[in-house]
Amino acid sequence: MAFKLNNQLLSKIATGKGHGEDSPYFDGWKAYDKDPYHATENPNGVIQMGLAENQLCFDLIQEWVKNNPKASICTPEGAEEFREIAIFQDYHGLSEFRNAVAKFMAKVRGDRVTFDPDRIVMSGGATGAHEMIAFCLADPGDAFLVPTPYYPGFDRDLRWRTGVQLIPVDCESSNHFKVTREALEYAYETAQSDNITVKGLLITNPSNPLGTILDRETLKSIVSFINEKNIHLVCDEIYAATVFSQPDFVSISEIIEEEECNIDLIHIVYSLSKDMGFPGFRIGIVYSYNDAVVSCARKMSSFGLVSSQTQYMIASMLSDDGFVEDFITQSKKRLATRYSNFTNGLAQVGIKCLKTSNAGLFVWMDLRKLLKEHTVEGETALWRVIINEVKLNVSPGSSFHCTEPGWFRVCYANMDDQSMEVALSRISRFVLKHKEAVKPAKKLCWQGSLKLSFSSRIYDDLIMSPRSPISQSPLVRART
Ligand SMILES: Cc1ncc(COP(=O)(O)O)c(C=O)c1O
Repeated sequence: MAFKLNNQLLSKIATGKGHGEDSPYFDGWKAYDKDPYHATENPNGVIQMGLAENQLCFDLIQEWVKNNPKASICTPEGAEEFREIAIFQDYHGLSEFRNAVAKFMAKVRGDRVTFDPDRIVMSGGATGAHEMIAFCLADPGDAFLVPTPYYPGFDRDLRWRTGVQLIPVDCESSNHFKVTREALEYAYETAQSDNITVKGLLITNPSNPLGTILDRETLKSIVSFINEKNIHLVCDEIYAATVFSQPDFVSISEIIEEEECNIDLIHIVYSLSKDMGFPGFRIGIVYSYNDAVVSCARKMSSFGLVSSQTQYMIASMLSDDGFVEDFITQSKKRLATRYSNFTNGLAQVGIKCLKTSNAGLFVWMDLRKLLKEHTVEGETALWRVIINEVKLNVSPGSSFHCTEPGWFRVCYANMDDQSMEVALSRISRFVLKHKEAVKPAKKLCWQGSLKLSFSSRIYDDLIMSPRSPISQSPLVRART
């Protein structure tokens, strides 16, 4: 007997589009998966620049793992603990783990604040943490305000299974996408007039995709806004340790010590996916100053605990003060170097990025001058050219709810130096073909000491190869 699967057999969640994956942000990943770049095996494939991963310090991690075999229960040195750790399933987590994470969170914030290990609740990455906090703070139909541009995953993480809504707070390039009191008030009032209950404001500091930090004044104004409205403030600080140059990162945990505020409204979402580069370990944290939220979230964490094996290893790694200190310093240095090499390379061909960025694993690239028309459609058309013909998976601003077409997020820390050079040379070649559209900042020079240091071999490979993705003018095709 043949069974027919129709949509009525499944839930609304299973058959709906609430997952938010029908967007260029996720399509770009699919394009990369079909044709991934490899320096020797697939040199004309798509380079993945849509993935905010921090892969610049894996040598340091590997070295530590080799030097600390006892940190793993799967080595002869650590196997003694295997049984105890394998059967551990308490949703409070290993106390060593919570202590080490609390200490790490403080270290990343310059030891200007401390964190109480008893307020640390585990979740499956920041993804799980966001959903958990949404479940704790809001009912279906309630809303969170979110300044734009914002991380596309929020549309899934906070909304999909909870039924919560996200209301964009439109921020603009004219003031470097600052979160202003006026924009917050406007979004809040609009929601009210639509009879939507606003339960909170979600900020990401440092910002994904902008790579900027929220300054002290802005944070203070945000805290006073949420206090006046008596709504929650959820602060995603997942990129806290990626701030690689001045000004320093300021955590919400510092602000609430300086400003009068109802701390029951304050919640931090954290994870080791970006600062340590461990997205695969799924170490997410909800740190709430509200006892009832801690208590509820702790029970909910049963749905997404961090495996005890991972807790065990991370507890040991993060308790190694010397290692942590060195890792944070090195990571910032390497990110700074990568950022400056990449942005200087772009500047050589007249491409600018948001200049207030000093954090994150990406740049917010301004391609407004390359748009045929200043609409979302114009941006999507350009994005298609970049992905299909320039063969770079970058993410268009519209997928981050940016209201101004022409901005693209480009990740630069998930690849080696050579791949970055290839990516830069592809972008440069693409732009040079259309230099009537973009005025170069400086006269181009292809060799020598320039920051745009393509090795001549890579450059020749790209230009000479008949299969080169950039051997034809992408925009010419786009126009047809
Ligand atoms: C701002 C932000 N929050 C949350 C996440 C999800 O992180 P995790 O891998 O810890 O689930 C990401 C991932 O890119 C992110 O950029």
